[in-house]
Amino acid sequence: MSDKLLILVGSPRRNGNTAALADAVRKGALTGGSDVTLRYLDDHISAFLRDCRQCRGPDGECAIDDRYRSLFFDDFLPARGVIFCTPIYWYGVSAQLKAFFDRSFCYYAASYPGSQDALAAMARKRLGLVLASEETYPGVALGIIHQIQEFSRYTNSDFVGVVRGAGNSRGEVRRDPTNPVGNAQRFGRDIFSRAYSDYRLETPRSPRVWPESGLTSSSS
Ligand SMILES: Cc1cc2nc3c(=O)[nH]c(=O)nc-3n(C[C@H](O)[C@H](O)[C@H](O)COP(=O)(O)O)c2cc1C
Repeated sequence: MSDKLLILVGSPRRNGNTAALADAVRKGALTGGSDVTLRYLDDHISAFLRDCRQCRGPDGECAIDDRYRSLFFDDFLPARGVIFCTPIYWYGVSAQLKAFFDRSFCYYAASYPGSQDALAAMARKRLGLVLASEETYPGVALGIIHQIQEFSRYTNSDFVGVVRGAGNSRGEVRRDPTNPVGNAQRFGRDIFSRAYSDYRLETPRSPRVWPESGLTSSSS
């Protein structure tokens, strides 16, 4: 069975730079044989997290009447990999993507009847990040990278990589000479096979990172 990959797009611009990179991830993932779903967060999230104690229904369900629940249960929880795609807004993720993380609280909080199952399914995913921004300097992405790293640590997931592209007008990211579109496509293709390491003192390891014969497999 193919690995399920979910691509979440946090930009409101359907023909913008984040969308172009997300589509490249999707194309790459299809060539890699993944079972891919791409969702625009705007189609699923119409409100921020509220006070769950005030707004949760008697059955424990979130009372906000939008499509977040199906996104979380049908797409996010079953996925083995998730790639978060967002424009950089004020040196952070877009409000759409932040709301995606915040709204999950309703289902993993102890007050939700199925919270243990939700927590178990949130864990141990392969996670990736794709960013579009106007500025090119490395620092512009650091806060977001840190946030996803902490989310990965908290959920015992593997944060396997980041693709960044620069552009401002719609689709301009395609002209970025660092080739983020190609990088995004390779990232989608390799998300489940890409080497990932995060050592501790006691981690057993080989003195070499790459096998002698495997050097070029992910560079094409
Ligand atoms: C509200 C807002 C805030 C932004 N903040 C930043 C920023 O802090 N740094 C930056 O490099 N670009 C910033 N930008 C520019 C966008 O990141 C850039 O135009 C990006 O390519 C937009 O992606 P999209 O085409 O997917 O919407 C901002 C744009 C908007 C609309």
